[in-house]
Amino acid sequence: MKILILGSGGREYSVGLAIANEKAGHELFFQPGNGATNNLGTNLNIKDYNELADFAKENNIELTIVGPEAPLVDGVVDIFKAKGLTIFGPSKEAAQLEGSKVYMKNFLAKYNIPTARYLETSSIEEAFRFCETLPTPVVVKADGLCAGKGVIIAQTHDEAKKAIGDMLSGKSFGDAGKKVIVEEFLDGYELSMFAICDGDDFILLQAAQDHKRLEDGDKGPNTGGMGAYAPTPLVDDELYEKVKQRIIRPTLDGMKKEGAPFEGVLFIGIMVVNNEPITLEFNVRFGDPECEILMPLMTSSVSDMFYKAATNDLANINVEFSKEYAVGVVMASENYPYGSSTPAEIIVDEVHHEEIEKYTHISYAGVSLEDDKLYATGGRVLVCIGKGSTIKEARDRAYLRCGQVHFAGKKFRTDIAYQAL
Ligand code: AMP
Ligand code: GLY
Repeated sequence: MKILILGSGGREYSVGLAIANEKAGHELFFQPGNGATNNLGTNLNIKDYNELADFAKENNIELTIVGPEAPLVDGVVDIFKAKGLTIFGPSKEAAQLEGSKVYMKNFLAKYNIPTARYLETSSIEEAFRFCETLPTPVVVKADGLCAGKGVIIAQTHDEAKKAIGDMLSGKSFGDAGKKVIVEEFLDGYELSMFAICDGDDFILLQAAQDHKRLEDGDKGPNTGGMGAYAPTPLVDDELYEKVKQRIIRPTLDGMKKEGAPFEGVLFIGIMVVNNEPITLEFNVRFGDPECEILMPLMTSSVSDMFYKAATNDLANINVEFSKEYAVGVVMASENYPYGSSTPAEIIVDEVHHEEIEKYTHISYAGVSLEDDKLYATGGRVLVCIGKGSTIKEARDRAYLRCGQVHFAGKKFRTDIAYQAL
C-alpha cells in the first residue's frame, strides 16, 4: 500500500518506522517529513491541502495518516474525504475537542464525563467571581490552540486574575484567549492514554507518562515533552476499565450524537485522583514523544490498525502488544524551549554492541539533511528509545543509546521514568 504521513516530527518518523519495520512492502511518503524520514520514504513539499489531496489521488495513495493537530483543526480530513480518499484523523468539527477547550469542556459536561469543575466565560467580572470561589491554586486556560502554553496554574487568586485579564484582553494569546476556562486544580498523578477510534469502536493503547518539564525532578519550564515511558505500572486493569467506560465510550457515543463521529487518535490527558480518572484535556492526535514509545510496543500491524480505523472496521481487528516496556529520552537543542539554536551536526556512533542494536533505536525529529550530513535544526532533535523486560532495563538501554549521540549543545533529562522506578 502507498501511505502518506503528514507532519515532520519524531511522532511521524516513529509511525513511518513502525510501518517500514512491518516489511510488508508499503511505500511511504511524508509531507513535509524531516531530514531522516527520507530514509523511510519520499519527502514531499506540497503545502496546500487541496493540492496534496490531488497528489494522493493521482498517485494512488491508499491511506493518509495525520500526525499534528494543526492540519486536523484546519480540516485536512474533510478535504481528503471529499475527494474519496482514505485518511486517518478526525474531521474539522471533531477536532474541536482539541481546537477549543470551551467546546471540549462543554462536551464533557453535557455527557457527564468526569472533568474538573469549571466556568467558561468571556466576561472578566464573571471569571473573577468564579475564581474567588475556588481554592488555590486556580487553573486558567485560554480557549484556542496556544502551542501548549495556554494553561496557567496560578498559585494565588491575584495571579489567576492577572492571567484572566491578560487572556481576555487578547494580550497573551490574541484571539485564542477571547474566551477562558477557569477551573479547579486537581491534585493527583497524570497519565496519557491513547484510543485509536473509528467513530464507533476503539482500541485503547497502553498508558504512558510524559515528562513535560525541561529539567530533572520536573523543574524548569514546560516543553512539548522531554521523555516518556509505557506501559506505566501505576495503571491497573480496573483503571483501564474506568477510562473505557466513563471517558472513551461516552465520548464516542456523544460525538456521534453531536453529528461529528470521532475517528482518529483520542489522546486523553488524565489526572488520577484517589484512583478515579478525571479528564484534564483531549487532544485529537498522538502525543509526542508518547507515540515514539507506543509504536515499538505494538507487535501487530500498525498500518492495518490505522487503515481499519480509517475505514470504520476496527471491530474486525486483533491488536497485539509486546510484553516489554519502552522508555524514550528526548534530546533537545541548546536553547530549547526558549528559542532556536545554531544548527549542529549530529554524529551517531556506529553500534557494535548487541544489546544496543537489538533493544534500542532513534526516532528523528528536528533534523535536516545537508550534503549527506544530519544537522540538529529543531528544538526537540531526536528521541532515544530503549526496550526491556523491566522499566529499568528499558531506561538503562535508552540512556546507553543517548551516550552514542553527539551534537553541540545537546541536552536531555537524566530521570525519565523516575515515577515508575
Ligand atoms: P492541558 O493543556 O489542559 O493538558 O494542560 C497542561 C497541563 O496543565 C496538564 O498536563 C496538567 O499538568 C496541568 N493541568 C491542566 N489542568 C489542570 C487541572 N485542572 N488541575 C491540575 N493540573 C492541571
Ligand atoms: N507530549 C504531549 C503532547 O504531545 O501534547
